[in-house]
Amino acid sequence: MMNHVLKCHDIVKTDFVRGENCSLYDSRGKRFVDLESGIWCTVLGHSHPRLNRVMQQQIEKLVHLGTRYPNNLVEEAAIAVLDIVGIEPGKCVFLSSGSEAVEFAVQIARRVIEKPLLLTFSNSYLAAYGSAGRKSNNEWCLFDWAMVANHEHMDEMSSIPFEKISAFVFEPGGSGSGFVKFPPKQIVQRIALRIKQAGGLIIANEVTTGMGRTGKWFGFQHYDIQPDIVALGKGLGNGYPVSAVAMRLEIAEKLEDCGFRYAQSHQNDPLGSSIAKEVIATMREENWIERGNRVGTSLLQGLKRLEEKYAVVKEVRGRGVLLGIELRSNEHLSVEGLYHALLEEGFLVGYYPAGNVLRLDPSLTIEEEDVLRFLDCLNLILENKEKNRPLLENGI
Ligand SMILES: Cc1ncc(COP(=O)(O)O)c(C=O)c1O
Repeated sequence: MMNHVLKCHDIVKTDFVRGENCSLYDSRGKRFVDLESGIWCTVLGHSHPRLNRVMQQQIEKLVHLGTRYPNNLVEEAAIAVLDIVGIEPGKCVFLSSGSEAVEFAVQIARRVIEKPLLLTFSNSYLAAYGSAGRKSNNEWCLFDWAMVANHEHMDEMSSIPFEKISAFVFEPGGSGSGFVKFPPKQIVQRIALRIKQAGGLIIANEVTTGMGRTGKWFGFQHYDIQPDIVALGKGLGNGYPVSAVAMRLEIAEKLEDCGFRYAQSHQNDPLGSSIAKEVIATMREENWIERGNRVGTSLLQGLKRLEEKYAVVKEVRGRGVLLGIELRSNEHLSVEGLYHALLEEGFLVGYYPAGNVLRLDPSLTIEEEDVLRFLDCLNLILENKEKNRPLLENGI
């Protein structure tokens, strides 16, 4: 299987054929609970009936259009996006992936604010390629917030050449590296203020933290700052590849006036826009931000109990449905071992050996019952580890 598909990652032998909310089923009918939402995308679960319906209807009508031709659906989706990001008046463009959205936001900042550098936190993941992917030091200034996190060395911030920076690209989850370490509010606010004072822009990279993942619509809302540009992806399409860049009207007009042109084949596609619009409507009408936050809080509390109970658990942290479990490295339980034990029991989670972190990004729609089953299973595995038994009865 998969002999003709380029291997870009370690492949785990599974053959999922169907998804329904947080359940994935393999060809033998075995059910797995997806606590990763694909790769952090399906905020409303797999195969959401309402989204499937809209997708099917739109496929019958119009999937794709040339970049010159306006479409009312795209306009409606843009209004919905601008409304949730709190940018009014503003403009929006739809692309396909998160990397495209962040890279495009960076290009916009470069064009609008003619300063040579961009600023981001050193552990922030921004994109798979482009300037935002490379983060080369002739274009980017990387700042390690952990250096000033205890507030004793705030003056370290003076090493940031604020006057040379066109934009601070803020990724509110510290999440790309998988570590789930949230940058402190005071530091973010200070940087945002200094950037603004020096005439730069704030770009929020909400590809992962957006669409309710952190318990609010957007991760930047935990920081009481208002970005000038917001890049969205992943959850916006609930698994369908649609992303967006929303910006203040003044920025959009500057771009339009200076003759800036940007065209790619999949830009403002009616299909993607119709899905984004329906994801937003569903989240609003069915109150998923609040409901997801409630289930995330109960998962966090359950994990905190395991942190208190087992020495191997160093720290549990999270916001909404973005959670990390850091293991103590000297306790001879690898996150990879734990991942495989959970997989065997039918739970899909993320693991990041570099940070010794197991990561959970379930859908906002995960059922409480699955959360409890997961906590029971993790408890049993950790108990077996503590008693020096195999992690599972089958010898794993
Ligand atoms: C914080 C963040 N930014 C950007 C991206 C890039 O998005 P995509 O993989 O859709 O290109 C990711 C992907 O994981 C991400 O986590």
